Amino acid sequence: MNKRYCIVTYGCQMNVHESEKIAGILRSKGYEEGKTQEDADIIVFNTCCIRENAENHAYGNIGALKKLKKAKPSLLIAVGGCMTQQTGAAEKLKKKFPFVDIIFGTHNLEDLGRLIDEKAGRKKSVVEIVEGKTEIEGEDADFSFRTSYPNAWVNIMYGCNNFCSYCIVPYVRGRERSRRPEKIISEVNGLLDQGYKEITLLGQNVNSYGNDVGGAFNFPQLLRDICKRKEKFRLRFMTSNPKDFGEDLVRAIAENEQICNLVHLPVQAGSDRILRLMNRKYTAAEYLKKVEMLKKHVPDCQLTSDIMVGFPTETEEDFQQTLRLVKEAGFATAFTFVYSPRSGTKAAEMEGQISDDVKKDRIMRLVELVNAQTRELSSAYVGKTIEILCEDKDEKKGLYLGRDEYGRMGYFESCGDPIGKFVKLKIAEASGVSLRGKACGE
Ligand code: 5AD
Ligand code: SF4
Repeated sequence: MNKRYCIVTYGCQMNVHESEKIAGILRSKGYEEGKTQEDADIIVFNTCCIRENAENHAYGNIGALKKLKKAKPSLLIAVGGCMTQQTGAAEKLKKKFPFVDIIFGTHNLEDLGRLIDEKAGRKKSVVEIVEGKTEIEGEDADFSFRTSYPNAWVNIMYGCNNFCSYCIVPYVRGRERSRRPEKIISEVNGLLDQGYKEITLLGQNVNSYGNDVGGAFNFPQLLRDICKRKEKFRLRFMTSNPKDFGEDLVRAIAENEQICNLVHLPVQAGSDRILRLMNRKYTAAEYLKKVEMLKKHVPDCQLTSDIMVGFPTETEEDFQQTLRLVKEAGFATAFTFVYSPRSGTKAAEMEGQISDDVKKDRIMRLVELVNAQTRELSSAYVGKTIEILCEDKDEKKGLYLGRDEYGRMGYFESCGDPIGKFVKLKIAEASGVSLRGKACGE
């Protein structure tokens, strides 16, 4: 019987995709996917450290494995991802959880196979964290084992140069490194040849794609080149930084039918003073001007965002400006966060940290507003026909589900096998973020 693996993933899409790469490595070493942790011969934690609660989750779940490891000493436990890449984190982990066998970082995921071999027959743990990577090699190969059909994630770049004052990402992911366009296009073409229907291009800041190689290539051009494939598919991307979200990109969205008319444009805050302290390099007015420009070129475009409350020194008036901006920009939905101080970042050292009570009060008011906007948009769907890409079946509900180009989930009944197909749904019901409809022609 083959040995089995279990991967536990925290954090963003980038990590979800990197877990597919980890799965690819483990399969090449003869492992197959296990159903439970008890069942596994290796458990890999792919961690996140963007907020404290993401770290606490990982710590809690790694700690909980002590018993399992005691009962089954041959079990390998590996911890990788953003958490381990922070200064001093590997030592802390080793001390806290001496039963962890392998610790690796964000820059050497592709070495996991070798680290497993090194651990074999050795009592001590194997720790390998690579610092300050500037080359794309290693990261560039596609050895993913994908389980997300009909959707696929494709990295276009790694790292971030922006150093927003609250954010740990530039410290744990390093400087921006762009993949060559021909590599990306050949990966996308391969996926389309296999029948994938939706491609999401991933980067911390896709707008600066190519800047690290002197602008030899750029993001709008990459989109245009990918869209030369004429069959029906959807192209998405994330994340755009508003500071360099430009007209050429908007034109590329308008010109190409395959590119979803949905832009995720994290604003973070509505107060210019807070935006300056965050080092975001735009004002609220500049942000709204970009939104206007987008709506001019792509009138049916929807906008989503990331918004944070409780940044150091944020006053009630600053927060009110955030609420005003949420209304003015008309976000279809937004990810909302409570500011969490991250050691090593500028904001963590700032005076005027906000109390938990105030943060809690503000996040509740923000979530209420965002949800009201989402509900209003959802209710406008009732009676309309939308096109969704069917991606799965919810066995509990007995319904198939998929998303429209704006990412809104639609549920429906079907007696065929619609997974991987574009389906037209007439919407009968809307509840919050999801819709229920009838497949036309069934
Ligand atoms: N605290 C809270 N939220 C954060 N984000 C990034 N860093 C922090 C932090 N220290 C949020 C931002 C970003 C999203 C991915 O996570 O809104 O856009
Ligand atoms: Fe973090 Fe800012 Fe880079 Fe986004 S752009 S990853 S928020 S530093």
